[in-house]
Amino acid sequence: MAVKPAGLLTPLDVMRDAAVIPVIVLDDVAQAVPLARALVGGGIRMLEVTLRTPAALACIEAIAAEVPAAVPGAGTVRSAADARAAAAAGARFAVSPGYTPAIGQACGELGLPLLPGVSTGSEILQAQEGGFTELKFFPAVPAGGVAMLKALAGPFHDIRFCPTGGITAANAPEFLALPNVACVGGSWLTPADAVKAGDWERITRLAREAAALR
Ligand code: 3PG
Repeated sequence: MAVKPAGLLTPLDVMRDAAVIPVIVLDDVAQAVPLARALVGGGIRMLEVTLRTPAALACIEAIAAEVPAAVPGAGTVRSAADARAAAAAGARFAVSPGYTPAIGQACGELGLPLLPGVSTGSEILQAQEGGFTELKFFPAVPAGGVAMLKALAGPFHDIRFCPTGGITAANAPEFLALPNVACVGGSWLTPADAVKAGDWERITRLAREAAALR
C-alpha cells in the first residue's frame, strides 16, 4: 500500500504500517541508505532514526533522498528545536521519550505526526490535553509491561500505545495481542554488530520476522 504524502500521514498511519517500528542508532551516514534498504526489503518502512548521534540528521536526510520506499522519522526528539531540525532533514514523523506542550506544538506547526512518550496516567492526560491519543509507552518493560498496559486500558480506552523499551522478538507477540497496542518499537531489528559489519541480509531477515508478527 502506498504511503500517504507528507502532511497527510497521521500518528495512527505510522503505527499501523507494520507491527514494529525499528529504533535505529547510526554513527555513520554511510550506513543509513543500505540499512534503510535492508529494512524496507524485509517489509518495514517506518524507520525511527534516533537523534542520539552527530550523524542522525544526515542519516535521515540520506534516507529521505535515496530510499523513496522508506519513511524516515526522528526518535529521541527532546525539544521543539529537535523537531524542527528533524523536519528540515526530511523526517516524516517524530517520536519523543516524553511529552511537553512545546514539542507537541512544534510538531503540530510542522505537520509532523508525533508519538509522544508516556509511562503514567498524568503523562497520558497531559498528552491528551495536547491532542495526542497515539502514544509511545516508554520504557515499556521497566514501566510495567503488559500488566500496566492492561491496567491503562480501563481509564484510557481511547488511547493506542506503541510500547518501546525492552521489547524483543520473544515478548513482542504478547504486547501486540493487547487491544490498546497498535505496534511496538525496538532496537532488536538493527543489532549494533550487524550494522557495524554491514550485515544487511541479517537485518532484512530480522525485519521480515518482525513484519510477520502481525
Ligand atoms: C530506546 O529509546 O532506546 C528504545 O526504547 C529502544 O529500546 P530497546 O533497545 O529496549 O528496544
